Amino acid sequence: MFLYQIRNDLALKLVSIQDADETFQLVDKNRAYLRKWLPWVDSSKTVEDTKASFLSFLKSYAEQKSLTTLIVYQGKIVGVASFNKIDWTNKIAYMGYWLGSEYQGKGIMTDVAKALTTYAFNELNLNRVEIHAAVENKKSRAIPERLGFIEEGTVRQTEWLYDHYVDHVIYGMLKSEWEQKI
Ligand SMILES: CC(C)(COP(=O)(O)OP(=O)(O)OC[C@H]1O[C@@H](n2cnc3c(N)ncnc32)[C@H](O)[C@@H]1OP(=O)(O)O)[C@@H](O)C(=O)NCCC(=O)NCCS
Repeated sequence: MFLYQIRNDLALKLVSIQDADETFQLVDKNRAYLRKWLPWVDSSKTVEDTKASFLSFLKSYAEQKSLTTLIVYQGKIVGVASFNKIDWTNKIAYMGYWLGSEYQGKGIMTDVAKALTTYAFNELNLNRVEIHAAVENKKSRAIPERLGFIEEGTVRQTEWLYDHYVDHVIYGMLKSEWEQKI
């Protein structure tokens, strides 16, 4: 079972059906805020939807296609961080994340993204980590920027968010660059 202790009070653990209820409550409490940047919020209406998503994440993990983890801070589930896709041919992991709004502003996600990047290079032996963020999503963009990822370009109208398209900025980190930083 995947469990990654980042600090005394902060860990990542693989999604599990037992945690679906607590995670759904967090989503439900944060709907309006999460919806601004995440496309799946409206389709997550009940705990059964969360369980179905978790089952699909677990299947994908078993097939080594992705890794979806719950962020546990001071014993509570406070968000999700994942490699939404792992491209083994080209050795690239694509990272995504969200936090409950009240857990923002503490550096939690920066530490989580740092830990996942190290995990991608040292444990999964990948060569590149990518983070995509909407151009206007300043808080999300600040995470790769704080960690020294390179802003590599913008792709236009690449995501449909309920009623409009958004452009994304792509950030990349290479294994060779990360080794210079750590
Ligand atoms: C994107 C998201 C995870 C960013 O959360 P965040 O709290 O800003 O990020 P962190 O946990 O890394 O915290 C950084 C903040 O904590 C502060 N901070 C405090 N202690 C810190 C520490 N030890 N290290 C780094 N930052 C620290 C930083 O100054 C920063 O605050 P600021 O924005 O006021 O400057 C969050 O806004 C979110 O979930 N948004 C909705 C979903 C979303 O947009 N997901 C991304 C889609 S691409």
